[in-house]
Amino acid sequence: NRHLLSTADLSRDDAVLILDTAEHLSQVADRSIKKLPTLRGRTVVNLFYEDSTRTRISFEAAAKRLSADVINFSAKGSSVSKGESLKDTALTLQAMGADAVVVRHGASGAPHRLATWVDGSVVNAGDGTHEHPTQALLDAFTMRRRLGDLDGRRVTIVGDILHSRVARSNVHLLHTLGAEVTVVAPPTLLPVAMGDWPCEVSYDFDAVLSKSDAVMMLRVQHERMNASFFPSAREYSRRYGLDPARLARMPEGAIVMHPGPMNRGMEIAAEVADCARSTIVEQVTNGVTVRMAVLYLLLSGSESAIGGPQ
Ligand code: CP
Repeated sequence: NRHLLSTADLSRDDAVLILDTAEHLSQVADRSIKKLPTLRGRTVVNLFYEDSTRTRISFEAAAKRLSADVINFSAKGSSVSKGESLKDTALTLQAMGADAVVVRHGASGAPHRLATWVDGSVVNAGDGTHEHPTQALLDAFTMRRRLGDLDGRRVTIVGDILHSRVARSNVHLLHTLGAEVTVVAPPTLLPVAMGDWPCEVSYDFDAVLSKSDAVMMLRVQHERMNASFFPSAREYSRRYGLDPARLARMPEGAIVMHPGPMNRGMEIAAEVADCARSTIVEQVTNGVTVRMAVLYLLLSGSESAIGGPQ
């Protein structure tokens, strides 16, 4: 079985195939063919142990646009509250005929364990502070559309890197696609060891801002930290927030990104989030297309399907 667990596992060819397939699917959708028959008879289970708005809904929309049946499972209100394990929950869903399991879990590595227990494909929809591969793919898709080929493009990722699965997935994928990535954060919000992160590190947002083709702001993840990590919201905003003055110092044509959900007024000012250079809403739209491509490539099952829908 094929899975999508991590962008660190993707070759350049794999990544380009997913992005090109998404581009093809989006052109099909532009011709107002809203629903393709490709995955008729297949079942996709959304298994969410952590809250989600964008990822869960867009996987559901993606699967439905490919005519798959979708089962949404949320840990809240399930027998997880009675102590049922991830393994037993997964085997129960498999017994109901899941061809693919899209999983979000608070524990880093949970999708990798799941992949050893179930027969179907597993897609990581965010595991703890580890990876969120489809987010990085939709981000790369958005950048490619706005900026062209990513080779040599300079991408700056700013904020709570320590807790960010989005940052890790983006750093690996963007490096694979030839971009030069810099992460910017206060020292307390960077991982202690970054030896396997193929990127530069800076503490000075203003120094890298004027050389960036894309600036990706990250949410401060209060739910994953204690107060000692994060002494003052005002100080954080002053040093690491993207406000209109910083926006004005970005190069012409450079774009502003955020995976959502945002803390408006903290890491990004409301007027910056809503400005013409912001791709935040486009990222959400592109998320459906990219997730269609991922499900299509994992589940369509025939070699002729790899390389774009016929
Ligand atoms: N970007 C993202 O993963 O958002 P959700 O948590 O709403 O899915």
